[in-house]
Amino acid sequence: MRWAVLVGGTGSNLAALLDRGIDIGLVVSHRAEVGALVIARAHRVPAAVLLPSRYASREAYGADLRQTLENAAIDAVAMAGFLRWLDTDTVRSYRGRIFNIHPSLLPAFPGLHAIGQALVYGVRWTGVTVHLVDEGRDSGPVVAQEPVPVEPEDDEESLAARIHAVEHRLYGDVLQAFEQQRFFVCGRKVVWRQ
Ligand code: GAR
Repeated sequence: MRWAVLVGGTGSNLAALLDRGIDIGLVVSHRAEVGALVIARAHRVPAAVLLPSRYASREAYGADLRQTLENAAIDAVAMAGFLRWLDTDTVRSYRGRIFNIHPSLLPAFPGLHAIGQALVYGVRWTGVTVHLVDEGRDSGPVVAQEPVPVEPEDDEESLAARIHAVEHRLYGDVLQAFEQQRFFVCGRKVVWRQ
């Protein structure tokens, strides 16, 4: 199965997926000059930069993104630090085949700065969610979650380090499980085969 990874940040999840041997045929970034693009280049993975500011609308952005994915014969998509909401047509075209990873136990702390939000709120546990992407904001069916404790002495950096360590393991686990058809979607729920 040939994956595209949509990025926009440091690319630590991209690096973990590459290390894991996931077949990544394309990286798409919504930002120029980010760490994720350096990682793509180092692994000789073709990369495209699609800057939102160059498009008249979210729909026009989505149309170009879909064309880019089609040109690279991509089967499934993993978002990892791509902090843009996808348009409806793109979500529909790849429904059930687009994953995202989020640094909280959704539906707690959706959107940006989830780790900071958890610290400010004072929760004792936060974690990582891998979910399928739907038309809403961080609202698609949950595929996997893993809790991470918030320690009293945690700051954003220390908590982020523990969350990222979980992300780097969990995302590859889920993408490989998808390739092996070890779960399926039933309405809002993801059912894992025994
Ligand atoms: C990850 O922590 C991911 O969970 C988060 O962006 C980071 C990207 O890091 N995504 C979101 O917050 C999505 N709402 P990376 O570029 O090092 O993989």
